[in-house]
Amino acid sequence: MADGKMSVEEARESARAKLKGFCAAYKTCDGLDSRICQGHSYGSPIGMGGPGTGASFANNIRALEALKLRPLLIGPDFLSDTSFAFFGKELAMPIMGASVSGVNSFGGESVMGEAEFCRAVVRGCKAAASMGWRGDSFNYSPERPFGIEAIAESGGWGVQIIKPRSQDAIKLFMEKAERAGCAAVGVDVDGQGSYAMNAHAQPVYRKSISELRELASSTSLPFVVKGVMCAEDAEAAVEAGAKAVVVSNHGGRVLDCTPGTAEVLPGIARRIRGAALVIADGGVRTGYDVLKMLALGADAVLVGRDLVRAAVGGGEEGVRAQMELLASDLAKAMKMTGVASLAEISERVLWKAPDRG
Ligand SMILES: Cc1cc2nc3c(=O)[nH]c(=O)nc-3n(C[C@H](O)[C@H](O)[C@H](O)COP(=O)(O)O)c2cc1C
Repeated sequence: MADGKMSVEEARESARAKLKGFCAAYKTCDGLDSRICQGHSYGSPIGMGGPGTGASFANNIRALEALKLRPLLIGPDFLSDTSFAFFGKELAMPIMGASVSGVNSFGGESVMGEAEFCRAVVRGCKAAASMGWRGDSFNYSPERPFGIEAIAESGGWGVQIIKPRSQDAIKLFMEKAERAGCAAVGVDVDGQGSYAMNAHAQPVYRKSISELRELASSTSLPFVVKGVMCAEDAEAAVEAGAKAVVVSNHGGRVLDCTPGTAEVLPGIARRIRGAALVIADGGVRTGYDVLKMLALGADAVLVGRDLVRAAVGGGEEGVRAQMELLASDLAKAMKMTGVASLAEISERVLWKAPDRG
C-alpha cells in the first residue's frame, strides 16, 4: 500500500486467507479441474465453481485465451479514450461489476455479510467511475433486497438483476429498484437453472416473450435480459423490449457443457447490435480480455469472480483497485492495437492465422 491505496495483489492476498476452502485466489481465476472451486460440483453446493464437470466455466476462459491481440504500433501518438455512456450515466470504462449475489456461496457471514458485500461492490465500482450490478438469491426478498439497498445508498448508481421468480415478485423488486433510482433493472433468464434457488425451494421459471414484455413495460427503467447464449433468445429479448442483452452463461454456474461466451458473442452481436446494448461476461480477467470481448461485438463487459476476491479481500477499496487496473490495461491494449476510442474497436484488433498482414 505504498501510495496509501490498496493494490490488487494486497486484496488478493487477504482474500486467499478468508476464502479458504472455496477459492484459493489463484493468480488467474481459470476454472481448471484442479482448482478448489471446481471440486464442489457433483450434486453438492457449487461454491465459486460450476455444476457437473464445470466445463461451462472453463470454456469461458478457454474461448478468450484462444484469441490473440494484433499489435499495430506505428503512426501518430494518441491517448485511448475508454469512456462509455451507459443509460445516461458517464462511466470511465465499458467495464462493470457483475450481478453476483450470495456470500453463502463463498463462506457466508464469517467471510462477509451480504449487505457489506453489496455495498463494497457498488461503492468500489462507483469510486472507479464504473457501475456495480447486483444479483438476487434465495435469501433476498422485496422486503430485504440487499442489492437495491446498496444501490439506493449510492444515489441509484447501480443495476439490479432479479431471478426469474413469479411475475408478481419480480414487479415488487422492480418497484423498489425504481424508487432507488437504479440505472436499469432486469431478469437473468438463465437463473431458472440456479443451484441456490432450487436448493432452497425458491421457485424460478422459464419466461415467455409476453411475460418479459409485461415486465419491460411495467417499469420506467431500461429493462435488461441477462443470460442469453443464442441469437433466437437475443432477438426474443429485444422483441420483448429489452434495452440491453447480456450474453452470459452465468459464469458457467447454471448449465454444464455450454460453449464459452466469447464463442457465441459474434453471432449474437451481429443480429441485435444497434437494437439493444450488447453486454458480455464470463472469464473476463484483464483489460486485454475486455478488448477481445469488445472486438467480438460487445458494447461493454461485466466482471464476476475477480470482484468477489477484490471485495472480500479489500472491500470497497479492493474493488476500486481492481476496476482501475482493468481500465488502465484496456487503455494500453487499445493504444497498442491502434484504436483511440471504443467506436473504433473491431475484429481488426484480433490476430487471425494466417495473419492478414
Ligand atoms: C458466486 C456467484 C454468484 C452469482 N450470483 C448471480 C446472481 O445472483 N445473479 C446473476 O445474474 N448472476 C450471478 N452470477 C453470475 C455473474 O453475474 C456473472 O455472469 C459471472 O460471474 C461472470 O463470469 P466470471 O465470474 O467468470 O467473471 C454469480 C456468479 C458467481 C461466481
